[in-house]
Amino acid sequence: MLNILGIGAGYVGGPTMAVIADKCPEHKVTVVDINAEKIAAWNSDHLPIFEPGLDALIERVRGRNLFFSTEIDEEIRKADLIFVSVNTPTKTYGQGAGLAADLMYWEKTARQIRANATGPKIVIEKSTVPVRTAVAMERILNEKDSPIHFDVLSCPEFLAEGTAIRDLEVPDRVLIGGRHDTDSGREAMKKLSDIFRHWVPEERIIHSNIWSAELSKLASNAFLAQRVSSINAISAICEKTEADINEVSRAIGLDQRIGPHFLKSSVGFGGSCFKKDLLNLVYLCQFYGLEEAAEYWMWVVKFNDHQMNRFVDRILKKMFNTINGKRIVLFGFAFKANTGDTRESPAIYVTKRLLEERAEVVVTDPRALDNARRDLEGMPVTFAEDPYEAVRGAHAIAVMTEWDLYRDLDYQRIYDVMEKPAFVFDGRNILDHKGLYEMGYHVFPIGKKALSHFDR
Ligand code: UDX
Ligand code: UDX
Ligand code: ADP
Repeated sequence: MLNILGIGAGYVGGPTMAVIADKCPEHKVTVVDINAEKIAAWNSDHLPIFEPGLDALIERVRGRNLFFSTEIDEEIRKADLIFVSVNTPTKTYGQGAGLAADLMYWEKTARQIRANATGPKIVIEKSTVPVRTAVAMERILNEKDSPIHFDVLSCPEFLAEGTAIRDLEVPDRVLIGGRHDTDSGREAMKKLSDIFRHWVPEERIIHSNIWSAELSKLASNAFLAQRVSSINAISAICEKTEADINEVSRAIGLDQRIGPHFLKSSVGFGGSCFKKDLLNLVYLCQFYGLEEAAEYWMWVVKFNDHQMNRFVDRILKKMFNTINGKRIVLFGFAFKANTGDTRESPAIYVTKRLLEERAEVVVTDPRALDNARRDLEGMPVTFAEDPYEAVRGAHAIAVMTEWDLYRDLDYQRIYDVMEKPAFVFDGRNILDHKGLYEMGYHVFPIGKKALSHFDR
């Protein structure tokens, strides 16, 4: 039996440790966090995050072999393996501000581990961190006066929010980076692999050196984000021509070398990872004097900003170049469907720009309203639980999140209570555009021909 500790009870640490506990009933898994409120929530019926399947999973394992605690020092002493999933936000000060990852929390954690450990431990990097962080951690942990040996592994988490539990249960791969050149390094990798072997097929557990593992995580997110920016760049051309982005996506996705996934055009990508990891990569390239590579990846971020701007510019232009005092309802505030997370959500950016134009913004979302209230604190925005209430007297609807709920609303009923002309800007291309047009709406999808009655 092993004592497994997870430090950091956020979107990554919580679900990851819960799945490990579920799949390895003989091990004891504890999750700690400095935030006592969060730990209390993990111990209650109202978990701090929404994730499909998470409630049932926690119900099954909490108190059996999964525990949430704030006793960080004590749990470090007891642990054999420590997963570190603390936050690594973009630095806001000093060198690398706006680009580099802030490793403050990571380093604090490393020092806390060293201060409390009474025996050897395996420390596993789960947070997204810049390449070579593990080496820094190794140096802090194994400084020369320390009698205890620590092995540091990188095991980046590839889960996506909204599908976290499935991604953890049926991962495309588990990547373990470690030192192949020492006995204890190989032993540590084996110990960690043995945990995943409980449920992950052997061929999906792959090994690499530590730096490849760290870089793979950044590269993977950079590639995914780049695909979204690429399809969004094509959507801009579609809007100027007779091409249709869905038809183009389908056609290119059937090329096996390209593949059909992650080709949905949208108002822009959001989430805590893409932008942060791209900027991390840019910083890394700059650090090594690779200016062209830095610029290449920077354009993925810049294009995403442009896509969000394009969306708002279009709203303004189509609504006769003024939205001052007009009521615009955002359908969805989360950065994607099936999560309450709003970190880096395009909706935040769109809201700010609409407010600059003095529009009256109404926000509705089935899961993200609490986070939205926090993000928009102090701003003159109205929040509504019920989309039918939200649209009363509205001039326009802007779809920000692809929640199924918004596909299935009664749009005739909505039309009847909206101001006319009634506009729909579908930032996720989820609605029945032709049907809406026939009801009388002026419809502006992404990367498709607009359906406006003014153009007849
Ligand atoms: C390409 C398209 O693949 C094909 O669908 C289109 O019809 C015509 O253009 P082609 O140029 O003949 O075909 O060869 P391709 O295999 O795509 O290679 C293009 C270049 O990319 C080559 O120089 C190839 O060496 C290079 N390449 C390809 C890489 O450097 N790395 C890769 O992973 C793949
Ligand atoms: C991402 C990676 O997918 C995951 O592997 C990594 O561990 C963390 O970062 P996440 O940010 O949770 O996961 O969600 P993801 O599904 O990747 O979506 C990111 C953003 O891209 C969302 O705003 C989403 O709406 C947008 N997106 C995604 C598109 O606009 N079009 C697409 O085709 C796919
Ligand atoms: P992610 O999406 O990467 O999981 P979150 O912000 O959701 O990011 O979670 C990171 C968690 O790590 C937060 O709950 C935060 O309180 C916790 N954390 C940060 N520093 C420490 C620390 N030194 N010890 C324990 N927990 C920490």
